[in-house]
Amino acid sequence: MRNQFLLDQDTYYFNHGSFGACPKAIFKNYQDWQLELERNPVQFIVNKGPIILNDAKKALAKYINCQAENIVFTPNPSTALNIVIKNIELNKGDEVLTTDHEYGAMDYTWTYYCKKAGANYIKSKISTPIESKESFLKEFWNGLTDKTKIVFISHITSASALIFPVEEICQKARSLGLTIIIDGAHVPGHIPLDIEELNPDVYTGACHKWMLAPKGASFLYVKKELQRQLDPLVISWGYAPDKVENRFTDFHQFQGTNDFSAYLTIPKAIEFITTDDWKKAQQNSKNLILEYYPIFAKALNGKTICPINEDFLGQMFSVPISSENPELLKATLYNQYNIELPITNLENQYFFRVSIQSYNTIQEIEYLLDSIHKIKKETNLIK
Ligand SMILES: Cc1ncc(COP(=O)(O)O)c(C=O)c1O
Repeated sequence: MRNQFLLDQDTYYFNHGSFGACPKAIFKNYQDWQLELERNPVQFIVNKGPIILNDAKKALAKYINCQAENIVFTPNPSTALNIVIKNIELNKGDEVLTTDHEYGAMDYTWTYYCKKAGANYIKSKISTPIESKESFLKEFWNGLTDKTKIVFISHITSASALIFPVEEICQKARSLGLTIIIDGAHVPGHIPLDIEELNPDVYTGACHKWMLAPKGASFLYVKKELQRQLDPLVISWGYAPDKVENRFTDFHQFQGTNDFSAYLTIPKAIEFITTDDWKKAQQNSKNLILEYYPIFAKALNGKTICPINEDFLGQMFSVPISSENPELLKATLYNQYNIELPITNLENQYFFRVSIQSYNTIQEIEYLLDSIHKIKKETNLIK
């Protein structure tokens, strides 16, 4: 598998989670689109582009099960959710209910727009270790009041690398008439996603992480009823096009000159990740996560933070660590051991986050473990 990727051969790459990694075949498809664009920019951008962009969207919509007309491509999940959060109706005193495990950029966006509207961003504390789905749901809904208007939650969290029970959250939120906004940046290509079944109001996902597309390929799904509330972040030609195709697409995707080649690779990416070989390798990575999580927790003098099963864990795990210098720990891993791995942070707790992707071998995982033991012996970086 490693040979199918462009990653440096001499780096032990345990950070698929941050920015993904693109296989050679998908990257070639990307460059082919870019070459075609440069051979005749006018023909490509004006005439052919919109048609094949629509084909790419249809392929994505089929893969995540929703209607193509309800999604638009965005470069990243922050852009997708800024479109929504900037525009969604928030009044003085309204509450947005979320958790204390959310991604920093989304926290900033909500904090900014809630402050502007006089609304409140309420973070339910999700204690770790999480005991069960039931204990999670109890803690989450502790934050519900008669002012709660919106529920915002990650489907898979960033720093703590946990799958949250969004199906159950969506069910209850819907019965309460709340607007549901889900940050699924890590979800497409990682765990199954069926938007129609989940039935949120808004969902964003990155295609350049676990779907293996090149960087700058994400999507925003918005239920039809909500789409009219959403002005574009950048007013451009799509605001009043000569010929209206689909207002939602025109507003948010028809944004002046840009290179949309990354979006065009999505059909190729789907073809890649739906082969039997890939699916088998991916399941193998998931099994390795379940097997090695307790072993790493012990090696790092830490604890596992959820039940060890596929309800909570996909292809990542995070171990809370105590270190007097987390930045130096990360630098030591990279500079002395050629290991790329993030030390994440959540509310002043540092985590050692490991991603296992199909290109990681058992030998590499054992090398990572040995390196932890050596660092513990030779430094004070892991307490
Ligand atoms: C939960 C979550 N949301 C969003 C993102 C990515 O957003 P962006 O690329 O816009 O920074 C990540 C990336 O790691 C994430 O973990």
